[in-house]
Amino acid sequence: MHYYMPTTVVMGDHCIFEHRSRLKELGNKVLIVTGRNSAHANGSYADLVQALNANGQTHCCYDQVMSNPTVDCVFAAAELAREEHCDGVIAIGGGSPIDAAKVAAALAVQPVERSALFSSVFSRALPMAAVPTTAGTGAEVTPNGVITNDAAQTKTSVASPALFPRLAFLDARYMQGLPRRITINTAIDALSHAIEGMLSVRSSPVSDALARASIRAIADCFTALEEETPGHPIREKLLWASNLAGMVIANTGTIAIHAMGYMLTYFRRIDHGRANGLLLGRYLQRVHAQDTRRIQDILAALGIPDLETFTETLDRLLGIEETGEAFDAAELASYADRASQAKNITNSVIPPSRDALLAVFRESLFSPSRNSMPKPPQSLSP
Ligand SMILES: [Fe+2]
Repeated sequence: MHYYMPTTVVMGDHCIFEHRSRLKELGNKVLIVTGRNSAHANGSYADLVQALNANGQTHCCYDQVMSNPTVDCVFAAAELAREEHCDGVIAIGGGSPIDAAKVAAALAVQPVERSALFSSVFSRALPMAAVPTTAGTGAEVTPNGVITNDAAQTKTSVASPALFPRLAFLDARYMQGLPRRITINTAIDALSHAIEGMLSVRSSPVSDALARASIRAIADCFTALEEETPGHPIREKLLWASNLAGMVIANTGTIAIHAMGYMLTYFRRIDHGRANGLLLGRYLQRVHAQDTRRIQDILAALGIPDLETFTETLDRLLGIEETGEAFDAAELASYADRASQAKNITNSVIPPSRDALLAVFRESLFSPSRNSMPKPPQSLSP
């Protein structure tokens, strides 16, 4: 068994200022990496600058990270870090700024050609801290930066132990203004991480324990997510759960669900968490045909009696937007072809065949609640 988690996590309201002395290990000058608006609107940017000022640290800012960050974006942030002689990097945001910051922190000290980004092995990076402002990716405790890979027409993970943030500051106040839709999509992403971790060839007793706790906490929030805009206690629970799920995938990686979800995100711009959620229920139904024990373990953590009820819950939470008519057969076949080549496939305890992936795409996007025919659960093997 192998389990590794080098990130120091602090949590609670005002935790950045309360634990500001920890930021000193990032050096005299830091690069803040964030998106265009949200860090200013939710108060996290102001809190961070106040803490840095109190420490006597200076900063500069790269605030151009977009959803699904591009290669250009991470190279621009790395260039700024070098030009400004930054000693460390602090990411504020959802998964996109945190992922971009990790790769930029590596590129700042280990420049590579753009064409070699996804084949490079990064052995070092500027020291980094992360302030998540959504509760979903868990990127604050993972060694991966997921970047849009136009050459391969998907999103690709740049992974190295050097990319683990040293510090993570979890303050649920920054999530209070998030719209319900983003809250649900990100919560489902975290749920998918925890579940995929339990279905990974690299799962362990430690990662399974973290995954069960994360799944239980997120499932406890389902009713609140269905009925209202969550208040602070629910926000904090989701943040804690997504952090645990991040610790899971830091050790197990993700599996076929993420490989398939990336197709819907890259080609259809469907939000990452939503894409996973659309596929999760039907994928698990197929796993169930071959591995009942693991699925029962997941259902027990969910507190839900069967996969049909779980799938209906996901459909209710996500709502119906995509319909079967929007996806033609050739498109789904091409998604299955591409997803079947992803590294995440061999990370699955039951590696799905290309035809099984196609069936999951079809069943998920042509589900009974989305206008079409139910299919009996079948296995993932041919
Ligand atoms: Fe994810």
